[in-house]
Amino acid sequence: MSWKVGGVLTTEPVVVRPREADERIRRWESRLVREYDGVPPSLVHEWIERARARLGGARVRGFVPLLVERAVRASARDFPADVPGISGTPLTSWARSTASRLLAQRLPRRWAHSSGVARRAEQVARVLPVEEQDLLVAAAWLHDIGYADELVDTGLHSLDGARYLLRAGAPQRVCDLVAHHSGAAAVAEVLGLADQLAEFGDARGRLRDALWYCDMTTGPDGQPTILDDRLAEIRQRRGPDDPVVRALEINVDERRSAVRRIHRLLRRTTEWRQPLRVRLEAG
Ligand SMILES: [Fe+2]
Repeated sequence: MSWKVGGVLTTEPVVVRPREADERIRRWESRLVREYDGVPPSLVHEWIERARARLGGARVRGFVPLLVERAVRASARDFPADVPGISGTPLTSWARSTASRLLAQRLPRRWAHSSGVARRAEQVARVLPVEEQDLLVAAAWLHDIGYADELVDTGLHSLDGARYLLRAGAPQRVCDLVAHHSGAAAVAEVLGLADQLAEFGDARGRLRDALWYCDMTTGPDGQPTILDDRLAEIRQRRGPDDPVVRALEINVDERRSAVRRIHRLLRRTTEWRQPLRVRLEAG
């Protein structure tokens, strides 16, 4: 039997120290998450952890990263990617064109990120009741418009974006979602803007969690990412004094919980469509 390790065919077991194997798997994880754009990043992460647990006792540890990758690729191939996404309703079309007008030219990176969050939302919407699906996609397009120069007022982008949307006649639930996305209440607290943010309701629940999930699993350039990498990137890009980073002390657990809850729903709503072999492996 031969194995391809690092692009080289070998018939010899390759000795890889556990720590080295961990690092290699983490690098592969980032690559696989990006490669399988149609699979929610948290599911790819779970497949990796599951394969690692299964292979943890493998006698030749050097093969573990390779076997993990193979197992994940098999799961990804079986993933039901043919579930139609939600897009093209009047609300989502308006949200997309509004976000494009405010971000695409002057803040292209924000626009790329927002587009990535909306792409993820179209897919994650399957965990929501039909009547909430286009609210999620619309909020995903719009969640960061408060960074646009012409909207900046208080400096809390979620609040500035939500106030603009309210003036523009957007549905109240979309305004509320944008106001409170991804731990905004903690950022408002840090900035002394909690009273003003309270103008908008924070409807905890599946819809709100889903928007947080999409934002927390999309990188700054719109690429899919896992939560830990996203949090590390936020800390590194913004620096320790930034209010968003300071607020992580308060809201990081809430962010994790929202991602975990949606992950469970995604797993439940997709597993029954997967082949029996995959479901049995999942236990
Ligand atoms: Fe965002």
